[in-house]
Amino acid sequence: MKTDKELKKKVLSDPVTFAKVFLDWGAHPAQAQILRDRHQFITVVAGRRFGKTECMAVSAIYYALTNPGSIQFVIAPSYDQSNIMFGQIVQFLSKSILGCMIRRIYKTPFHHIIFKNDSVIHARSASKPEFLRGHKAHRIILDEAAFIPDDVISNIIEPMLADYNGSWIKIGTPFGKNHFYDTYLKGQSPDFPDYSSYRFPSTVNPHISHEFIEKKKREYGENSIIFRTEYLAEFVEDQNAVFRWADIQKNVDNSIELIDSAENVSKQYVIGCDLAKYQDYTVIVVLDVTEKPYKLVHFERFNRRPYAEVIMRLKELYRRFNYAKVLIDSTGVGDPVLEDLQDVGAEGYVFTPKSKVQLIQRLQAALENGEIRYPYIEELVKELQFFEYQLTRTGIKMEARQGFHDDYVIALALAVWAAEQHSGTGYISLGVARI
Ligand SMILES: Nc1ncnc2c1ncn2[C@@H]1O[C@H](COP(=O)(O)OP(=O)(O)OP(=O)(O)O)[C@@H](O)[C@H]1O
Ligand SMILES: [Mg+2]
Repeated sequence: MKTDKELKKKVLSDPVTFAKVFLDWGAHPAQAQILRDRHQFITVVAGRRFGKTECMAVSAIYYALTNPGSIQFVIAPSYDQSNIMFGQIVQFLSKSILGCMIRRIYKTPFHHIIFKNDSVIHARSASKPEFLRGHKAHRIILDEAAFIPDDVISNIIEPMLADYNGSWIKIGTPFGKNHFYDTYLKGQSPDFPDYSSYRFPSTVNPHISHEFIEKKKREYGENSIIFRTEYLAEFVEDQNAVFRWADIQKNVDNSIELIDSAENVSKQYVIGCDLAKYQDYTVIVVLDVTEKPYKLVHFERFNRRPYAEVIMRLKELYRRFNYAKVLIDSTGVGDPVLEDLQDVGAEGYVFTPKSKVQLIQRLQAALENGEIRYPYIEELVKELQFFEYQLTRTGIKMEARQGFHDDYVIALALAVWAAEQHSGTGYISLGVARI
C-alpha cells in the first residue's frame, strides 16, 4: 500500500498521471510522450487536430502548479489563437478541484492567470510582438509555432528566456521551412543535446474521426501538398510555389505601424484593390511609396458588401492617404466600379492570363529584391505561400492553391504595380495595362 504522501509524490512527478487525476484528461500516447519530455527546447510537429492545444494547456497547468512562482507565456500567432489556448486552460481548471488554486484571472489588458503559489500563465499573440518586449519567462509555449515569424522568435521571444535559462516548447503543423523546421532538425540531431523533436500525423489522435481524414486523403490525394502538410505533418518542399518562403519572410517587418490615414502631407501612397467576385473577399492594400522599400501601412478585407460601399471606401482612403493613386482589378465587375471611381483618377488593370503573369512576376521580383515591407499578417503570408504555378494544357497559370484565396496577393501586386507607375520607373503605363 502506498501512503498518501507517496501517492501525492507520484501524481505530482508525472504530468500524465497529474492530468488524469486532477483534470480527468487522459493523454493519448503521443501526447504522453510530449508531456514527459524534459528537454529545454522541444519541437512538436503534428498534423491538424492532433490535440496540440489541449496537450499544451495541460502542460502549462502542470508546470505552473509544480513550479511555484514560475512565469509562463503561451504565445500564438494571432489574438484569436492565443484566446483558444487561454480558454482551454481556464476550462480545464474550472472543471477541476485545481480551480481552488487560482488567485485571479485577468482578461484585460492581456489575458493571464495568477495562481495561489505565485505562478502565472500569460496568453499572448505574436502579432504585436512589441508588447512582449521587456518580459521575462521561465517557459514559453508557442502554439501554431510555424506561423510565428523567424525574427519574432529570435529578436523577441528567445531573449525573454535569458534571465532564467528558460525553456520553450514549439508545437504546430508545418508551414514552410522556417525556424520550426530548423529546430525540428536540431531535435533530431545528436549534436544538440538540449533539443528534442517529434513528428506525428493527425491520425495518432484516437479522439477524432479517422473516416474524415481518409476522405480528405481521397479528396486531395495522398501525395498532395495539403494532405502531406496538414494531416501527415510533413515539411514539404513546395515546387509549385510562385513566391519563395525565404522571400516572403525577408519582407516581413513587424515594426511597421498600421495607420488609418496619411502620416503627413509629404508622404506618397498607392492603393491596390482586388474586388470580391462570387465567394471571395475584397482586399484593399495601401503602400507608402515615399521611398523604397515600400511599406504596407493599411489593409482591409471584407466580403458581402455592395459595390457602392466599396467605392465609397476607396474614395475615402484616396482622400485620407494624400490623394493616393488607386489601381483596381477592373476585369468583369470591376469595370463599372472603375467608372464610378473616375473622379479620383483610379486606374484599372484587366486580367488576362498574360497580364496576370506580368503583374505577379513584378510582385515576385519585388519580394526577391526586398523592395516591400509588410507586418506579419497571417492571411497575407499564407496566401503568398500558397500561390502557385499550375500547368494547364495551354500553358502556365498562376493562382491560389485549391482551398486558398489570393485576394491579398492580387491587391498587393496591384499596389506594387501602381507604385512603379507612380515613381515613373514602371514598365508600361497604367493605360496600356488595360489591355
Ligand atoms: N487526450 C485527449 N482526450 C480527449 N480528447 C482529446 C484529447 N486530445 C485532443 N482531444 C480532442 O481532439 C480534438 C482536437 O484537439 P485540439 O484542438 O487540442 O487539437 P489541435 O491539434 O490543437 O487542432 P488544430 O490543428 O485545429 O489547432 C478536440 O476535439 C479535442 O477535444
Ligand atoms: Mg490548436
